[in-house]
Amino acid sequence: MKIIKFLLIYLITLILFCQTLLADESKLAKGLEIFNEIAACSACHTLKAAGAEGNVGPNLDTVDLTIESVKEMVTYGLGVMPAYGEDEILTKEQIDIVSFYVVSSVGK
Ligand code: HEC
Repeated sequence: MKIIKFLLIYLITLILFCQTLLADESKLAKGLEIFNEIAACSACHTLKAAGAEGNVGPNLDTVDLTIESVKEMVTYGLGVMPAYGEDEILTKEQIDIVSFYVVSSVGK
């Protein structure tokens, strides 16, 4: 019986792990779409992983970013950088997703 219990726990852990991986994959795919198409961050920013070569704003591969700092910048903007949150260009969920995408993609 012990071995069956062990196998069950192992299997459940594996399934949960795969689900997390798949969820992250789909979040990253959505993030890429927001970055390049919906919000067109790529028009102004370089981010190698997204194939983006904009040079109006800083190269995102070379600045220090956290999910929180990207969220803040995308929500409130600064200078030429649009305020996607305040101006309701993106939903809060889209901002979370694109921020996760940017931070996960930096330097790749
Ligand atoms: C119209 C051009 C433009 C677009 C579109 C744009 N940005 Fe920016 N972004 C800028 C500029 C310019 C700055 C620098 C602002 C400053 O420091 O005055 C900036 C700054 C940033 C920073 C801070 C970088 C640092 O130095 O820490 C992040 C992160 C960022 N943008 C992410 C994004 C994301 C994500 C999107 C899409 C949702 C986006 N930007 C769309 C122009 C743009």
